[in-house]
Amino acid sequence: IPVDNFDLVIFGGTGDLARRKILPGLFRRFLAGQMPAESRVIAAARSDFDDAGYRAEIEAAIQEFGGPESKDKKGLEAFLGQLHYVAVDATGDGGWDQLKSLMRDGVVKAFYFSVGPSLFGALAERLHKHKIADRSSRLVVEKPFGRDLETAKELNATLAEHFAEDQIYRIDHYLGKETVQNLMAVRFANVLFEPLWNSHYIDHIQITVAETVGVGGRGGYYDKSGAMRDMVQNHLMQLLCLIAMEAPNQFEADAVRDEKLKVIRALQPVDYHHIVRGQYDATESSPSYREDVENPRTHTESFVAMKCHIANWRWAGVPFYLRTGKRLKARGSEINVVFKDLGHSIFEGDEARHRNVLTIRLQPNEGIDLQVTIKEPGPGGMRLIDVPLDMTFAQALGDEAEDVTDAYERLIMDVIRGNQTLFMRGDEVEAAWSWTDPIIEGWTARGDVPKHYDTGSAGPEDSLMLMHRDGRRWREIKG
Ligand code: BG6
Repeated sequence: IPVDNFDLVIFGGTGDLARRKILPGLFRRFLAGQMPAESRVIAAARSDFDDAGYRAEIEAAIQEFGGPESKDKKGLEAFLGQLHYVAVDATGDGGWDQLKSLMRDGVVKAFYFSVGPSLFGALAERLHKHKIADRSSRLVVEKPFGRDLETAKELNATLAEHFAEDQIYRIDHYLGKETVQNLMAVRFANVLFEPLWNSHYIDHIQITVAETVGVGGRGGYYDKSGAMRDMVQNHLMQLLCLIAMEAPNQFEADAVRDEKLKVIRALQPVDYHHIVRGQYDATESSPSYREDVENPRTHTESFVAMKCHIANWRWAGVPFYLRTGKRLKARGSEINVVFKDLGHSIFEGDEARHRNVLTIRLQPNEGIDLQVTIKEPGPGGMRLIDVPLDMTFAQALGDEAEDVTDAYERLIMDVIRGNQTLFMRGDEVEAAWSWTDPIIEGWTARGDVPKHYDTGSAGPEDSLMLMHRDGRRWREIKG
């Protein structure tokens, strides 16, 4: 279904995110017939381009990052015709009148701040001073949304001077992923799981987001952030919320976000014994973390594993184990819901521990797998084995699974539709920092030093110990 006609202004329209994600994503939506022919994408940045020069840049970017669709020459040409460029001075007055002259009344107006947060205030102020934005305009911002509670509050306050909360779309691209939204469908559209979704039946939950990439090329940003700020405060937190929240009364922006917020607020402070930090070592062919960030003494973490608890009625006593890291053995993100043992087995001689495990594979090889216990085939009596009831979306859904819309393109279309369900609200972001800050402050105060781990491993040994101490173990990281 096409969205309404729009003018989308991308500040930082020549930047990396615009070239890799935003414009290739918009191009795919254009080919899918979702972007009305009258819509405009207006890039605004410092460089001196004209429309033709900018279009040539983006043509090259789409050919590089746009996937097989970029072969569609006619489509690409038509799409490029909808792009415009204005050179603006974010902190001065140059270019704003020209931008204003390009904007039309009666269409959806959206402004994507694909620039560093230090410019948010200046841009928001000028959009109003030059009467380019109004009460119906929408504003899109990206992470990092602050680096702690204080800076996040400042950012929220800066934006609030010019935009109301229902105009602000804070992107966490994990929420745009097909399989992440599927978490809600699995939980709230099936009768099967919800009755068991609590501390009576669930032993623990594991959330793993494992990557094989290192941080080379982004060292300047990453070394000031670390895995806790880069991944846990946002992406893992969102996954935790979707897995743990109560059912919202409807699938609507504030109903969903209210429930997520309650989860974050119910998170208990984490005991420092329950956190493991790591830094990857070099191999013969790949540099170490310290080499990648060019900081030989850095104590920033490229891996975190932790055990946390949600202090509410549903989850009392159920540990949530989170882990994420770079340069691990495989790229694999999944959630494992491990159910409790049966209290009593009726099968004689059955000493093995059989557990149901629900695995939701977020990426790659997206799918759902339920480990069930059955009789081992053959005449050997009632011997039990665990087998997977495996549904890989690509097999079960065929072509439909192939049409997986990239997170960014889905989210941008949601902005134009005016649907905030998959965006973070200001209070949610602040609550997430309130929980994260003491953990990071604790590391600094104690002079915590991350453990080393081998590139291509499952992280530091201590991460395995975190589980072993509790008589549990991580599920294997599979790609
Ligand atoms: C980004 C982080 O937000 O998410 C990166 O800054 C990380 O460090 C990336 O690699 C992971 O996203 P995805 O979609 O590849 O899982």
